Amino acid sequence: MVEPERHPFLEGLSKHRGAPPTVVVIFGASGDLTARKLIPAIYNLSYDNLLPAEFHLVGYGRKPIPDEEFRSMAAKAIKDFSRRELDSDIWGRVAANTTYVSGGYDEKAGFDRLASHIRAIEGRVGSEVQSLFYISTPPSVFESIIANLGSSGLGGRYLGQTHHSKVIIEKPFGMDLDSARLLNGTLGSVFEEGQVYRIDHYLGKETVQDLLVQRFANAIFEPLWNRNYIDSVQITVAEDQGVGTRAGYYEQSGCLRDMIQNHTTQLLALTAMEPPGSFEAEALRDEKVKVLKAIEPVALGPDGDVARAQYAAGMLAGKSVPGYLDEQGIARDSATETFAAIRLSINNWRWHGVPFYLRSGKRLPRRVSEIAVQFKRPPGTIFPSKDGFNLAPNTLSFQIQPDEGLGMVLNAKIPGLETRTQPVKMSFRYATTFGSNTPEAYERLVLDAMIGDGTLFIRGDEAETSWGLYTPVLQFWKSEGRRGMEAYAAGSWGPAAADRLLAARGHAWRQP
Ligand code: BG6
Repeated sequence: MVEPERHPFLEGLSKHRGAPPTVVVIFGASGDLTARKLIPAIYNLSYDNLLPAEFHLVGYGRKPIPDEEFRSMAAKAIKDFSRRELDSDIWGRVAANTTYVSGGYDEKAGFDRLASHIRAIEGRVGSEVQSLFYISTPPSVFESIIANLGSSGLGGRYLGQTHHSKVIIEKPFGMDLDSARLLNGTLGSVFEEGQVYRIDHYLGKETVQDLLVQRFANAIFEPLWNRNYIDSVQITVAEDQGVGTRAGYYEQSGCLRDMIQNHTTQLLALTAMEPPGSFEAEALRDEKVKVLKAIEPVALGPDGDVARAQYAAGMLAGKSVPGYLDEQGIARDSATETFAAIRLSINNWRWHGVPFYLRSGKRLPRRVSEIAVQFKRPPGTIFPSKDGFNLAPNTLSFQIQPDEGLGMVLNAKIPGLETRTQPVKMSFRYATTFGSNTPEAYERLVLDAMIGDGTLFIRGDEAETSWGLYTPVLQFWKSEGRRGMEAYAAGSWGPAAADRLLAARGHAWRQP
């Protein structure tokens, strides 16, 4: 057995953050997310000794799978996708309590079988065990699963101090405001809000949490964090991958739903929100909702605040790749955007007049997510730019991924006998300071849900507020069909429309 290395982040953690005895039930147990993220997350929590002594994993799905086969599937998922190698002793501890129940998502009898399976586990444990239901299925069956958790008594409200059952729900959380409200209504008919954990995996990323620490654990930023000193904010979530094998899902979704409404908007909320009264779930989420509510409605039409486009054929990493319309499973006349950019104005005291630019897209030159806060230029009285001084605006950039870190662009004197300047970068790199084997987002999120900490999850009203902002855009694009849809070559930074959005306010996208 390998000696588990202790990561500095984990020191002392298990003492303070113990989860009660838990059974995690995964709906969609043979799905892609389960293999790529959930099983490796559970394995790594076990590796770090963060699972409760009584931990049980139950897969649930339509396909009948014997327990032994489910365990082998899980072991293979760890081999293929875990950040640490499979250690048979560590996995063995989880595998011993890993089982599978087959049943339909709309089949009450299946949920009754699941209920007796959980009761049998409790019988062996000798006490009640909290159930954490992880809904990792296509959204078409979300409602049936929730309803059946209710009717089988599995998801019932528990009025004790801790909730006996919890539900984690994967994205997409609705397709627009109406469907998000409907889903919240269904959840609310079975669970209390405190039992519901809506996932946005970006909140589980180390660097996204570090954004809060940088903002609120350092005194130097807050005095500058407003319209007096900040000129604009750019948030980029770029991917080099194309649609891959997810055509069925993506055609119904598109970039605005897939990346902007959730991940990118979460980055905006954490950047722009007021300091919360405490680092408690409700205090933090109240502030996020408040800032999202202060965003002005998005202007639509030719000179509006949004741009959309699809990737055309192009070159990426030296290879030619097809355009979106030529990808497998994509309609030749598809009006689904693979890139979206948006200009937002936050109408409050802190941010009035500071544009927030958001963009995301597939088949961009590289996978990179960053938040760049650009400060106002100093008055050019001492070093006027016309005299050949190369001065850049100060920019603070949070590098979310990859090469996680924090960078600051400053202007420095070039050594020499005359005074000439050049922008220089001061940077902090996670990997250099802390080592590179940091926990994956899903490890943090599964652990938090087990413990009952909702800080890094989306509250129901937050999901609705975000959908409220983007639903008019979706409706407008739907009514326009392909009109106004631009193309960008795969491997480029997006369409001209995205550049025009910034140029109209005297800005340009920075190269992340
Ligand atoms: C998912 C989207 O939520 O996030 C995918 O559905 C996208 O389309 C993925 O590729 C990006 O996540 P990450 O963690 O790789 O940046």
